[in-house]
Amino acid sequence: MVLAGILGTGTALPEKVITNKDLAKMVDTSDEWITERTGIKERRQAGPTETTSKLSVKAARKALDMAGISPKDLDLIICSTISPDMPLPSTAAFIQHDLGATACCAFDLAAACSGFLFGMSVAEQFIKSGKAKYALVVGAELLSRYLDYQDRATCVIFGDGVAAGVMGPVSPPSGILASEMHTEGLYAEQLYIPAGGTVKPASCKTVEAREHYIKMRGNELFKVAVRSLEDVSRRVLAEAHVCPEQLNLFIPHQANQRITEAVRARLGLQPEQVYSNISRVGNTSSASIPICLDECVRSGRIHKGDLILMAAFGAGVTWGATLMRW
Ligand code: ACO
Repeated sequence: MVLAGILGTGTALPEKVITNKDLAKMVDTSDEWITERTGIKERRQAGPTETTSKLSVKAARKALDMAGISPKDLDLIICSTISPDMPLPSTAAFIQHDLGATACCAFDLAAACSGFLFGMSVAEQFIKSGKAKYALVVGAELLSRYLDYQDRATCVIFGDGVAAGVMGPVSPPSGILASEMHTEGLYAEQLYIPAGGTVKPASCKTVEAREHYIKMRGNELFKVAVRSLEDVSRRVLAEAHVCPEQLNLFIPHQANQRITEAVRARLGLQPEQVYSNISRVGNTSSASIPICLDECVRSGRIHKGDLILMAAFGAGVTWGATLMRW
C-alpha cells in the first residue's frame, strides 16, 4: 500500500518587518491591544518587486532541495492563494514556468486559510491513485496588497509569506492517515473582498469606496473558528484511532493566539504539543500551516514517526484537518 507524505518543505518570507508600533502610527491601535487580543507582535510585508509567484518559486526550490527532487520530476503543482499575481492566469502557471517544471499540470486553489490542507488533500488523491508521483503544494499569500491600512480590524492581523511542501509516495506507517475538508457558504460575507469580481467589477467608484480591500467580521468568525477547529480535529483523530495525548505536534492555522489557546484547551492538549509562530509572522492565511511545518522540520522539532495534526479555518468559510505520521 502507498500513502502520500511530505518529502520536503521550504519557506520564503519578505524581508520587511512591520511591528505593532509601526501600525500604531497608521491607525488608532496599540502594541498592547494587538498583543493581548491576537498574540501578534510583528508581520512581514512584501516590497513592490516581490510577487506571490516569485516568493513561491523561492520556497518551492528549498522544498525540492530538501526532497532531493528536480522540478522536472513534478507531475502536479497546486498553488493555494487568495492573493494571486493577477486574476488571470493562475499563479501556478507562473510558478511552473519559473521553476522549469515542464512535465506537470498546475492550477490555483482558493480556500483561504484552509487552502494548504485542501491542496494537500487533492495532491494526496493524485498520489494514492497513481495519477501523480510528485506534487508541489504551495501556500502563498501577499495579503498586504489587499489590506486597508485605514481599517484597524484587519490591517493588524494579516502578514505576507509563502511556504511549500513537496509530496510523494511514502511507505506506511508514514504518510497521511486521515483528513477532512469542509465549506459553509452561509458565512461567506463575514470575510470577503466586495469588489473586483463579477458582482462588482473594479471601477473608480469601488476604489474610492475602498471595496477592493478585505472586510472581516472577526468577532463572529472567532466563535465559528474555535468550534470548527475542535470538531474537525476530533473527527480526524477518531478516524485514525489516535487520542489527543498521542500527538507529538498540533499545528493550528495561526489566526489568533486566543483561538489557538481555546482549541488547545478544548482538545485537552498540553502547551508543549502545540506550535505557534503568530507573534513573528501574524496570520499568513494559506501560508500559515506550511510555514509552521517548515520551521518545525528545520529546527528539529519533528522526528521520523511523529504524529502531527494540522487544522485550519478560513474565509468561505472553510475548515479542515490532516493527521499524518512523519
Ligand atoms: N486596535 C484597537 N482596537 C481595536 C482594533 C485594533 N486593531 N480592532 C478592533 N478594535 C476595537 C473594536 O472597534 C471594538 O471596539 P468597541 O468595543 O469600542 O466597539 C473592540 O476593539 C473589540 O472588537 P472585537 O472585534 O470584538 O475584537 P476581538 O477581541 O474579537 O478581536 C479579532 C478582533 C482579532 C479580529 C478577532 O475577532 C479574531 O481574530 N477573529 C478571527 C478571525 C479569523 O479567524 N478569520 C478567519 C481566518 S483568516 C482568512 O481566512 C484569510
